Amino acid sequence: MIAPSLLSANFAMLAEDIRACERGGADMLHLDIMDGRFVPNITFGPPIVAAVRSVSLLPLDCHLMIVEPERYVETFAQAGAQWISVHVETCQHLHRTLALIRSCGARAGVVLNPLTPLEYAFEAAGHADFVLMMSVNPGFGGQEFIPSVLARIERLRTWLERERIEIPIEVDGGVHHGNAAALVNAGATVLVAGAAIFGGSSIAENITALRAAVLG
Ligand code: DX5
Ligand code: ZN
Repeated sequence: MIAPSLLSANFAMLAEDIRACERGGADMLHLDIMDGRFVPNITFGPPIVAAVRSVSLLPLDCHLMIVEPERYVETFAQAGAQWISVHVETCQHLHRTLALIRSCGARAGVVLNPLTPLEYAFEAAGHADFVLMMSVNPGFGGQEFIPSVLARIERLRTWLERERIEIPIEVDGGVHHGNAAALVNAGATVLVAGAAIFGGSSIAENITALRAAVLG
């Protein structure tokens, strides 16, 4: 799956950019929610998620980079998020928060920063519907991919296969046509991309090119 990260879209023309994502064959829209606390940046909240919901039928994937995410899970689910992910570091009670996301009818994701011990994913995998592996430090679009994350994805994939747990591995940060195939070979099944999709002249063509880079 390819999930364009709207963080790099033109916020003044969001509906148009979303239509271009749909034309390009995007599978899901990734929405980065930042609070200026867990990460240095501030983005947008539930009203924008609801606005995006009103112009697209694509699944919405809300990546919560906020402290105390349990306070907002229900609001984001009501705004239209079908996938909701939380960072290990923001959850005092990770199991409870994942269960809360599921109880709101959304798919629950656990997010690991580039150096968060992989054991967190192993422990959470049985209680989550997907794992989001950060390949940059969260907070900004357009950063460079951290190569060591590739081996982490491979280790996670191997572990999930051994345990017979079939959940998507999503990778987020610095994904582009040059590393997409390696990421998929390592085990990633959802590619999030911001700069690589919204940079250049054609959003739709960038998505097509990203898919072609994986499928050959
Ligand atoms: C970073 C965000 C990413 C970001 C990805 O904190 O979680 O979703 O928008 O953007 P690129 O693909 O430009 O690294
Ligand atoms: Zn993200």
